[in-house]
Amino acid sequence: MVEFSLFLGRKGLLFFALNEIRHSLLRCGGRLEVSDRFRSGAGGDKVDDLQVNRARRAHLVFSIQRKLEAVRILGIESSCDETAASVVEDGSRILSSVVASQISTHARYGGVVPELASREHLRAIVPVVRLALEQSDTRLEDLGAIAVTQGPGLVGSLLVGITYAKALALVRGLSLIAVNHIEGHIHAVVSQNPVELPALALVVSGGHTHLYEVRENFLYRLLGKTRDDAAGEAFDKVAKLLGFSYPGGPVIDMLAPHGDPHAVPFTLAKMKGNTLDFSFSGLKTAVLRWTEARDLSAEVAVRRELLQHNPQPSVDEWLAVTPRETLDMLASFQHTVIRELLRRAVKAAEEIGARSLVISGGVACNAALRIAAAATRLPYPIFFPTPGLSTDNAAMIAAAAFPKFARGEFADSTLRAQANLALA
Ligand code: KG4
Ligand code: ZN
Repeated sequence: MVEFSLFLGRKGLLFFALNEIRHSLLRCGGRLEVSDRFRSGAGGDKVDDLQVNRARRAHLVFSIQRKLEAVRILGIESSCDETAASVVEDGSRILSSVVASQISTHARYGGVVPELASREHLRAIVPVVRLALEQSDTRLEDLGAIAVTQGPGLVGSLLVGITYAKALALVRGLSLIAVNHIEGHIHAVVSQNPVELPALALVVSGGHTHLYEVRENFLYRLLGKTRDDAAGEAFDKVAKLLGFSYPGGPVIDMLAPHGDPHAVPFTLAKMKGNTLDFSFSGLKTAVLRWTEARDLSAEVAVRRELLQHNPQPSVDEWLAVTPRETLDMLASFQHTVIRELLRRAVKAAEEIGARSLVISGGVACNAALRIAAAATRLPYPIFFPTPGLSTDNAAMIAAAAFPKFARGEFADSTLRAQANLALA
C-alpha cells in the first residue's frame, strides 16, 4: 500500500487540501494519515502565513495527483464472450473502451459455446488492443501497467487475454496486474461515482449473483450468492425456452413493459441457512410448468422462424409474434427476479450498515430493476454503472487495477487463468 504522511503544525491549516487528497486516495484505495507535527521544508516556511500555505496546499494537491493520477493502464478482458481492451487514466478517466462482442456467433446456439469463444478471442485480441491504444492516443511506452482478467470465466477464453497481456508486458518491460472479473464489475461503478464505503455490492450477471461488503482499501466479504442459476442465466434460459433471442435479458427487458407484472403470481424463494443467498431454479421451473400447462409450440416456432431471418428483431416485430398471455408471464418473471434481487440486497446493506449500494453486472442494464431501485426509499444512495460499463468491458478491469498499482500488487509470468477465482 502507498501511504502519504503529511505533518501539520496547526490542525485545520491544510484541511481543504487534506480533504481533496483523502478523496483522491480513497478512490484508488489509498489511506491518509495525519500527524500533529508539522515538518516544514528546508527553508522553514512560516505555518501561519496564509499565502505560503495556499501555495503549499496547491503544490501538495498537484504533486500527489501527479504521482497517482497520470497513470495510464491498459485493461484486457476476455473471460466470456466479449474481447475488450481499454485505456483508463488515474483509475477513472476512460480514454478508450473497445468491446468486440461475439453475440452473433453464439446466438444460434442460445448460449456461449466455449470452443467458439476462444477462437473468436484469438481473432479479435490484437485489433481490439490496437484500437484501444489508438483511440486513447496512447503508445505502449506511455502505459504504467497492463491489467488483465485472471478469472472467473471460461478458461480457454481467459487464456487468450492472459497470454497476450503477459507477452506484451514482457516484451515492453511493463508491469502486469491480475484482476478478478467480479472486482472489475464493482469498479465499473466505484470508479465513476462518489461511492462511500462500506458499500454493499450486488454483482448480477450471466455468471454471478453475489452480494459483497466492500470495505476501505477494497477489502471484500462475501455475504450471499446464488445456489443455482445466476439471475442473468435465468433470463437467458427463460428466453431460450420461449424461442426468444440470446442473450435473453435485453429482450425480456424490452417486452416486459407490454405485460402485467402481477398477472402470474410466482413465489419468492425461501432460503434455509444463509438468508442472503439466492435461488432462481424454482422460478425457472415455475416458468417451465407455466409453458407446459399451455400449448405454446406454435408461437415458439413462429419466433424461432423469425430469428432465422432476422437475428435482432425490433420490439414491434417481437410483439407481433408474442400473445398477451406470454407478455404477462415475461413481465411477472422479470418482476419476481427484481424483487428477489432488491430484497436481499437491501437486507444485506442494512446488516452491514452500508453507506452506499452498488448494483453492477449485465443485469444491471435492466430498466425495470433501475426503476424499482430508484423507487425503494433507502437512507443511502444506489449507484448503477452506465449501460456501456454494465456488461463485460475492459475499462472496469483497468479501473480495478489502479488501486493495485498504487499498492504495488503486480503479477508475473507465472500468472495463470483461474476459472473459479473467488473474490472473497
Ligand atoms: O456481465 P455480463 O455481460 O457477462 C457476464 O459476466 O455474465 O452479463 C451478461 C448477462 C446475460 O445473462 C444477459 O442476459 C444479462 O446479463 N443482461 C440483462 C440485460 N442486459 C444483459 N438482463 C436483464 N436485463 C437486461 N437489460
Ligand atoms: Zn461479467
